[in-house]
Amino acid sequence: MKNVWKYALIASLGGFLFGFETAVISGAEQIIQKLWNLDSFWHGLTVSISLIGTIMGAISAGKFMNKYGRKRVLIAVSIFYLLSAVGCALAGFWSMFLFFRFLGGVSVGISSVVGPVYISEISPSKDRGKLTGLFQIMIVSGIFIAYLTNFLFVDIGENAWRYMLGIMAVPSILFYVLLRNIPESPRWLLLQRRNEEANVVFQNLDLPETLSIEPQKSTTALFQNKYYKPIVWAVLLAFFNQMTGINAILYYAPRIFDMAGFASELSYLQPIFIGGTNVVFTLIGMSIIDKVGRKKLLLSGAIGMFIFLVLTAYGLKGETSSFLLYYIIGFIASFALSQGAVIWVFLAEIFPNEVRAQGSSLGSTIHWVFAALISWIFPVIVEGNVQGGFYIFMLYAIMVICSFIFILFLPETKGKSLEEI
Ligand code: GLC
Repeated sequence: MKNVWKYALIASLGGFLFGFETAVISGAEQIIQKLWNLDSFWHGLTVSISLIGTIMGAISAGKFMNKYGRKRVLIAVSIFYLLSAVGCALAGFWSMFLFFRFLGGVSVGISSVVGPVYISEISPSKDRGKLTGLFQIMIVSGIFIAYLTNFLFVDIGENAWRYMLGIMAVPSILFYVLLRNIPESPRWLLLQRRNEEANVVFQNLDLPETLSIEPQKSTTALFQNKYYKPIVWAVLLAFFNQMTGINAILYYAPRIFDMAGFASELSYLQPIFIGGTNVVFTLIGMSIIDKVGRKKLLLSGAIGMFIFLVLTAYGLKGETSSFLLYYIIGFIASFALSQGAVIWVFLAEIFPNEVRAQGSSLGSTIHWVFAALISWIFPVIVEGNVQGGFYIFMLYAIMVICSFIFILFLPETKGKSLEEI
């Protein structure tokens, strides 16, 4: 295997943990609510505390990555994930649990910036989409494995939730150990004026040496006029990514099926189908992203998402509710092929070297702010209210149309070097 693939694969384990940590709570939340006797407000906080952590992590990631380098931040993140897994599994009281879920969220937020940026900085332009895409493949694999382990552990008794959350220690340790073998990003070394070290890494990666690179800029420099275009693209893409409703569906799938009158014994099984579809279609998206380009994928996926969101909305009203699982699977497939395949690739490549860390930090922060809002609001609106479910899915469908128009104006980045973009 070429070195670059090996390093990208290792860095993308941060994505696996990101997926696992965000999805695992869906299987544990009800048990935890009973255990600590939480009313709906405190329960809501317990579920979303990790998302609050993701926002904090994403905001601060750019700064840390510039100061300490990409590799050291990746290593720190692997340790945070490990602490979070062990801390949650052993939590003896509620606030301890809350703290360690928060720490897990911080790790997710930082990973979502440093992982894709590191990979894009070590990749040759012709394969950059595929390589950065490994990150999304790992996210969806992490989600899938979390659903699977939740399903396997759910019947083992009152401590099931401890195993569900604690098992994350295994991939965290693996991540930590493997990270020791990757090189620092050569583009970060250049930013630090460590040209000789950078050239050694470029050679190891079979990449042409890049000599001229602007010096690293401060965070405030990001808001200069000349960067306004990539800022607008990154912010809007992140916003529209979440306004498709993807995470409302992933986090609350069991409730959506309940609403449509499905038997609740199936509620741990259906997520496995959803997660599996997500993996398969992400793989398809990745295999064509550098050929078809980012824009065409986004546009075709938007059409699919629109159709399936409208069908889901009417399905919830009971008109075609027995098909609901198929509609949701259709939506997930369209998302995975388009928004899912493109977002992290795009956020990591659209900013020039000197402000890449801060720029993708910003995009990722917007992503997490809306992820948090969507998952807070969704249960409130749909609680025992099918009409609310109808409106919210129609809103997602309308947002997808808006995103279609926005995507028409997006530049195509396929095949260009980071410096050309
Ligand atoms: C993308 C989204 C993320 C979502 C995932 C699901 O990575 O950015 O929020 O959970 O896809 O496949």
